[in-house]
Amino acid sequence: QIEPPKPLIVKEPELEVDDGKKKVTIFFGTQTGTAEGFAKALAEEAKARYDKATFKVVDLDDYAVDDDEYEEKMKTESLAFFFLATYGDGEPTDNAARFYKWFTEGKERGEWLQNMKYGVFGLGNRQYEHFNKVAKVVDDLLTEQGAKRLVPVGLGDDDQCIEDDFTAWRELVWPELDQLLRDEDDATTVSTPYTAAVLEYRVLFYDPADAPVEDENRSNANGHTIYDAQHPCRSNVAVRKELHTSASDRSCTHLEFDIAGTGLSYETGDHVGVYCENLDEVVEEALTLLGLSPDTYFSVHTDKEDGTPLGGSSLPPPFPPCTLRTALARYADLLSSPKKSALVALAAHASDPTEADRLRHLASPAGKDEYAQWMVASQRSLLEVMAEFPSAKPPLGVFFAAVAPRLQPRYYSISSSPRMALSRIHVTCALVYEKTLTGRIHKGICSTWMKNSVPMEKSHDCSWAPIFVRQSNFKLPLDTKVPIIMIGPGTGLAPFRGFLQERLALKEAGAELGPSVLFFGCRNRKMDYIYEDELNNFVNGGALSEIVVAFSREGPTKEYVQHKMMQKASDIWNMISQGGYLYVCGDAKGMAKDVHRTLHTILQEQGCLDSSKAESMVKNLQMTGRYLRDVW
Ligand code: 2AM
Repeated sequence: QIEPPKPLIVKEPELEVDDGKKKVTIFFGTQTGTAEGFAKALAEEAKARYDKATFKVVDLDDYAVDDDEYEEKMKTESLAFFFLATYGDGEPTDNAARFYKWFTEGKERGEWLQNMKYGVFGLGNRQYEHFNKVAKVVDDLLTEQGAKRLVPVGLGDDDQCIEDDFTAWRELVWPELDQLLRDEDDATTVSTPYTAAVLEYRVLFYDPADAPVEDENRSNANGHTIYDAQHPCRSNVAVRKELHTSASDRSCTHLEFDIAGTGLSYETGDHVGVYCENLDEVVEEALTLLGLSPDTYFSVHTDKEDGTPLGGSSLPPPFPPCTLRTALARYADLLSSPKKSALVALAAHASDPTEADRLRHLASPAGKDEYAQWMVASQRSLLEVMAEFPSAKPPLGVFFAAVAPRLQPRYYSISSSPRMALSRIHVTCALVYEKTLTGRIHKGICSTWMKNSVPMEKSHDCSWAPIFVRQSNFKLPLDTKVPIIMIGPGTGLAPFRGFLQERLALKEAGAELGPSVLFFGCRNRKMDYIYEDELNNFVNGGALSEIVVAFSREGPTKEYVQHKMMQKASDIWNMISQGGYLYVCGDAKGMAKDVHRTLHTILQEQGCLDSSKAESMVKNLQMTGRYLRDVW
């Protein structure tokens, strides 16, 4: 008989006391800053409510240097909250990846977290298959490992209003914290997002004569060659090409970033993060709406003059000193819909009381439906909102801290292989260009920037952008003889172009390659069959056994990649039976879901399996890393 594992003896008191105060840790796993913002908002309000506790907001990556330290430190947490976003194919954010891997692999640890009480709030989007997977998994595991759940896991849905989901979840948290942290004589201080104090950076203005030189480089000044999102690498655009023919009414850009001599490197299948700039016309409009000079030279600071952090906790890191024009071009997201907290900040600086009231109403529970319709559904941009409330003129410290979120890098699947393009990172990017309900033409910030970029080929004064590489699990099998099936319509082709470059290079170096098939989809051969010649060359060169293309708008009915997969069902079954790998890249909401269902059908029919056996076969392929998805 096997002895049950001994429970870990946890020596810590019920709630660890620090300076006579109870310690509460608020962890976040954030990609675009929303989870971090919520974590800080919870901390801020909790600080105002509970005198006898300290609240610490912690980036999961900064918390521990390795697995041992995670274990060591987590053991000491007695009251913790986790704000965890889910991305792509049910993945954690970059800064939570290490924690997530360690935590989910530690099932054998037993009930070692008995000392912890916790709450989890997830950030996700219901349109995606793995809605809030990371939060749900962590929430379940915390309970399984002995921790006590204070509130049900919050399932924030970015497809609706995630701020409202957070507010509702937070209302469940207070009664629990009241029991744990509140003194009988504590006064109740309740603030809501629409009455909360507005964050404001401290701003220093410079005389243009002695203004510091603008950091043109925007990459790490110390000659760092370890690049990441905080330390991007300045790269010139070497090549830019339109991939659609003139018959197409859409556009797709092929771009090559020059990384020669930078020390930046990548692997086939990785992603590149790109910091782009707003269009001049967008910046001009923002300058007019703010009513300030483009040459205003300033810097923003997240501390008070005496060095203490603003609002009691640190704010998102500011940007280097620069002109207002530069700050608006590089650091402000001007085209997303403003959050409710941004409306409150605008209201606080609206000189017309009617405008201020209306802004506050939109941010309040009473204005919930109106916000959903007028703001979210009609994709009203921050600039459109500012134009409709002309009396709202926030000062720069408020604008950059509370109104305009930081412009985030955009991620692309790299469409080259270093075996073919060692000093270049290729990107394949479809132009985002659509009319919103208000009649505004929404131009995707990065895709428009790429389309308009000037390549080195054309001018010495070429375009450049700070970029960095994000590793991915989307990799070819180590054994080149293993069969592979690639499914990537539209720009979902990108990583497969890299895969095929790699296979061609391997083949030329003498490797023996297994069979491979590519399912590609586009509208019409004459318009958007991107990289057609190259794909044929991969076939002729022996890197690719077969290309199967679904043209969705050539015949009377739509034909998509999944329809072609059904036609090739027995080939797919055979390749998988031989240990083959299956890769899917592209749109997660439609295509990847449909392809997933089709795969299930193929396995069921070809393998004569019942639905649950087919399901477990799909699961098994996923678990063993043979069914990989790079979806967005
Ligand atoms: P459509 O634009 O004619 O609808 C690349 O974008 C290709 O993917 C296009 O041919 C597009 O077709 C097609 N596509 C759109 N939705 C899809 C889905 N759910 N599954 C597979 N392909 C899809």
